[in-house]
Amino acid sequence: MTTPLLEVRDLTVRYPARGRRTPPVLAVDRVSFTVRAGETLALVGGSGSGKSSIAAAVLMLRRPEGGSVRFEGRELTGLDERALRPLRPALQPVFQDPYGSLSPRLRVHDAIAEPLRVQGRWDPVTGRARVAELLELVRLDASLARRRPHELSGGQCQRVGIARALACSPRLLVLDEPVSALDPSVRAGIVNLLTELRDELGLGQLFIAHDLALVRHVARHDVAVLHHGRIVETGPAHQVWDAPAHPYTRELLSVGRPSLSAGGVPDPRRSARVPGGTACGADRGPRGSQAGG
Ligand SMILES: Nc1ncnc2c1ncn2[C@@H]1O[C@H](COP(=O)(O)OP(=O)(O)OP(=O)(O)O)[C@@H](O)[C@H]1O
Ligand SMILES: [Mg+2]
Repeated sequence: MTTPLLEVRDLTVRYPARGRRTPPVLAVDRVSFTVRAGETLALVGGSGSGKSSIAAAVLMLRRPEGGSVRFEGRELTGLDERALRPLRPALQPVFQDPYGSLSPRLRVHDAIAEPLRVQGRWDPVTGRARVAELLELVRLDASLARRRPHELSGGQCQRVGIARALACSPRLLVLDEPVSALDPSVRAGIVNLLTELRDELGLGQLFIAHDLALVRHVARHDVAVLHHGRIVETGPAHQVWDAPAHPYTRELLSVGRPSLSAGGVPDPRRSARVPGGTACGADRGPRGSQAGG
């Protein structure tokens, strides 16, 4: 057996009390999972179940209270920021809000070049070609390179976010609800892009979502169901879908099933309200005139 790309064991995240009125929150309670290269682990749960806290802890953006996060066999939890720096390009996040994760000032070209510059990997001779290659990888027309985020649709913006994440050739993508804020009509396109990139580049993906129906189309591999900071059920995607063992999974499914239209695309007429959670992020219509969301 080869070393897994990401191995998380007994991960615990607690937010400290703030004053007497705000008690500490145990957001993630001894969560364990594994992500292998070329595979997706889908982590699904309602709002407040601890999904983003797990993402932040895996990326070492928030130090976990306990447990272990091993990336390619290397324990990350004990490393200081200096030791983490050279590893960061290999683990890249993609966030929910495509506009919020891009600087409004930067043109697409500079937004994609930025991570390379920050990492000291920008080469003025080959840089332009690398940006063009990344645009092509996320199926965006090269002519978009001169636009700013407000001149793009939500889907195009998220593709730029994905291109930025890919710029430094990561091996793991941590995708925190990457399509929840998008117009339902473009969600399937982004989900398909992510699965194609996983297969083309051999990436490992931690795909976070609150909609089990969506996750079923992403996770050719395992699904873990999160409830109140704990994994209550885990297994192959088809098994969790066809024969859910935990009552919470069944509850999630009873909401998720009708939200799928015949083509496997979440039905835009239904809000994906999940048990113990809130409706999915507000759908934002495309802002730009170009197709290709
Ligand atoms: N910075 C923080 N300080 C205190 N509590 C927090 C903080 N961030 C999150 N929490 C709490 O931790 C729990 C898990 O939050 P988290 O954001 O990880 O959930 P989530 O599953 O990502 O939810 P959503 O689907 O709404 O994004 C919640 O009870 C939340 O209120
Ligand atoms: Mg979240």
